[in-house]
Amino acid sequence: MARIAVTDGMAPEAVAVLEKAGHEVVLGFIQSEDLLAGALKDFDAIIVRSATKLTSEVIEVSAGISIIGRAGVGVDNIDLEAAGKAGIMVVNAPNSSTQSVVELTIGHLISSLRHVARADRGLRNNLWEKKQLKGTELSGKCLGLIGFGRIAQGVASVAKTMGMEIHTYDPYLPPKVAKAQGAYLHKKVDSLFKTCTHISIHCNLSDETHHLVNSDRMKMMPGKKGGIVCGNHIVNCARGGIVDEDALLTALEDGTISSAALDVFEVEPLPENYPLLQHENFHGTPHIGAATMEAQQRVGIEIANAIITGLTGEQPSTIVNRQYL
Ligand code: MLT
Repeated sequence: MARIAVTDGMAPEAVAVLEKAGHEVVLGFIQSEDLLAGALKDFDAIIVRSATKLTSEVIEVSAGISIIGRAGVGVDNIDLEAAGKAGIMVVNAPNSSTQSVVELTIGHLISSLRHVARADRGLRNNLWEKKQLKGTELSGKCLGLIGFGRIAQGVASVAKTMGMEIHTYDPYLPPKVAKAQGAYLHKKVDSLFKTCTHISIHCNLSDETHHLVNSDRMKMMPGKKGGIVCGNHIVNCARGGIVDEDALLTALEDGTISSAALDVFEVEPLPENYPLLQHENFHGTPHIGAATMEAQQRVGIEIANAIITGLTGEQPSTIVNRQYL
């Protein structure tokens, strides 16, 4: 029997999977200072979402841990190299939240183009802004997807049914995958920005993608398609830091960008008086891409099964730090 710390919450069905396998599950957030003081030393495994930060310093004082589970996709809150060097496997749950993130992305796109958030804010202030809130359709416009993994492909498939033309930039994508999905694969990211009026981000945050959406690139966007001046629109439900948020505010202010919707931010939770929230053509959500009942149940069960496999000494298929082990 193993002792497993679950620090950022987990669906009860997933807890039951671990307990049924004979493991003890200890639920509860552990503050950074307690992690640094060795709070994990009596545990065999830990399952986190994004709130718990497993830095190299925490890993150094967590000698008992043999496997870390990330109940989600992004592993930027875990030092993969430090874990690998300490002989700790890191596993994630890459498959379970795809549909939820796809749906939120499409929701943000439509909300942006039809001013849903702004209209609601107006109604709450007794404003009936019918004339001011003329929108545009998705149909007939060019959607540029940065990254073309599972989520981007899901977004592409829905956007296609709504009549959008699909473009992508993904330097790691075999061209035949884009072709099979009916997406035009751009070799250079600038070419994607020069072509697309709507950009949605679906890549990891890395040195290569930090502030990839910057002032120069936003200025390249065409703002019209097929005779309709639809403006330029940015959506990010992937990771904070890929969009330069200061540059985005300037672009909203000078009209380069007509609307922006972010689910993820460079600093989370947002600091007080976060400037983008003052702009009427911006709306945001607090990193809720995977926050559906269905996704959380699937994510929890996927990670619980990976942890059970890992604890038996086998290699789960979703190890993300293999190169450091
Ligand atoms: C993920 O990486 O799985 C998502 O961003 C969801 C999350 O961190 O909660």
